[in-house]
Amino acid sequence: MAILEILTEPDKRLHRVSDPVEHITDDIRAFLNDMVDTMRHNDGIGLAAPQVNCHKRMIVIEIPSQEDDTQNILYKIINPKIIGKNAQMCAIEEGCLSAPGERVRVNRFSEITIQYLDEQGIEKTLSADGLLAICIQHEIDHLDGIVFLDYLSPLKRKVAINRLKRRKENSAD
Ligand code: CO
Repeated sequence: MAILEILTEPDKRLHRVSDPVEHITDDIRAFLNDMVDTMRHNDGIGLAAPQVNCHKRMIVIEIPSQEDDTQNILYKIINPKIIGKNAQMCAIEEGCLSAPGERVRVNRFSEITIQYLDEQGIEKTLSADGLLAICIQHEIDHLDGIVFLDYLSPLKRKVAINRLKRRKENSAD
């Protein structure tokens, strides 16, 4: 078990586009487990590899099951691709471990279908709505170098970035 360091804004490394995972090895599986540990340690519901400075297309998500919300479901998703979406949009106040304390409403597709590889390298299809659909889109954005603050107007983004910068400086003291 390893808790990895999470990059926080402002940080250029969060804005790099990640590469597909070519070979799913034991190292990749171990790294996914470290990502899960890191997400849980920080009380997050999703984490993308670039947030822990690994520029590979991998995400982990853990949210309550839609069938039985007393149970959480853990998803480990490699090389996700959105292959379907409905025209309907939705938005909730999102948070992000790379922008602690910030909340932003982002317009997302309310239903999506993705194709991805699981940690055994098996191709899977997943249709999602609600929180899961939003989470997946937020995490795929990270793989494309997009942090949710990027959806704000330039001025609001600047305010948020400056606030995060100040917080970072204060915690380094
Ligand atoms: Co995030």
